[in-house]
Amino acid sequence: MVNHFLNLNEIDPKNLKAILDDAGKIKKAAHGDAVLNENYSNCLDNTITGLLFEKPSTRTRLSFEVAVLKLGGTISNIRKDEIHLGQGETLQDTSSMFSIFLDILVLRLYEEEKLYEFARTSKIPIINGLTNESHPCQVLADIFTFQEIRGDITGKKVVWLGVANNVLQSFLHAAVALKFNIVFSGPTKFQPSEKMLEYIQNHYPNIFTIEPNPIVAVEDADLVVTDKWVSMHDNQLPKSDLNNLANYRVTKKLLSFSKSEVLFMHCLPADRGQEVAQDIFGDERCVALQEAENRMHVQKSILRWCLGLL
Ligand code: CP
Ligand code: NVA
Repeated sequence: MVNHFLNLNEIDPKNLKAILDDAGKIKKAAHGDAVLNENYSNCLDNTITGLLFEKPSTRTRLSFEVAVLKLGGTISNIRKDEIHLGQGETLQDTSSMFSIFLDILVLRLYEEEKLYEFARTSKIPIINGLTNESHPCQVLADIFTFQEIRGDITGKKVVWLGVANNVLQSFLHAAVALKFNIVFSGPTKFQPSEKMLEYIQNHYPNIFTIEPNPIVAVEDADLVVTDKWVSMHDNQLPKSDLNNLANYRVTKKLLSFSKSEVLFMHCLPADRGQEVAQDIFGDERCVALQEAENRMHVQKSILRWCLGLL
């Protein structure tokens, strides 16, 4: 069986915890623990990781590239405009070539269905580097970041402000797997889709609530999270929507209604002044840069898990 890393609801929570534990050791090694480093520096020896991105990326591409290189592996950057996929070759044939030449493949795609088509035909592990519907690597790194600062996330309250999107969907998968609570606060129009709500209803209804008032929502929050109101695959929003969303902008004032030890996360890139006030990035509650660094540590462990090294 191939260990694909597609969505957090499909991976046994025991394996998610094993990845998080491994990432803790990996981070220690990266920060100077020579003994630990010895175990990791060559573990991807003789492997080639392919990266195929249909959408732009700064963090995901770079953090995967660096993760692979630091573990002794090599990278093949596959440019979407320079291959035949979608312009004269089927996905199945393309996937067969990837399986022959590569050991592991990171995909950033528009359609989630296409990710699953790759996984169905692939003999090598596929890692989901974001689709329109999910962003599991980001969310696992966010959970790692929360736990390294505040400890076990079980039972904690995470508040998502603004627009329900792919990152929130992965947070919901993680909440079911690791048993923490999520409150969504945003205009009705931007609430999670019926499909997302149905998933929660069928799996763990108690973990999710909707609270339209952002001040009430952030009370007692352990973690406040937001993301761009307009994702890469979305159309621009009319002014009326932006005005409604402004009530859910993360500001120092809004965070003051929360616990003093609340953390704030943003996966980045941010639209400063829209979903989040500019001055939040200098605030000690904001851990966006730590999240970004942890992408690399956690993805090293995801790669190791995919290759059966955990
Ligand atoms: N957070 C994140 O995935 O960023 P990129 O789009 O830059 O990869
Ligand atoms: N929701 C955003 C996340 C970017 C990392 C998007 O899909 O554009």
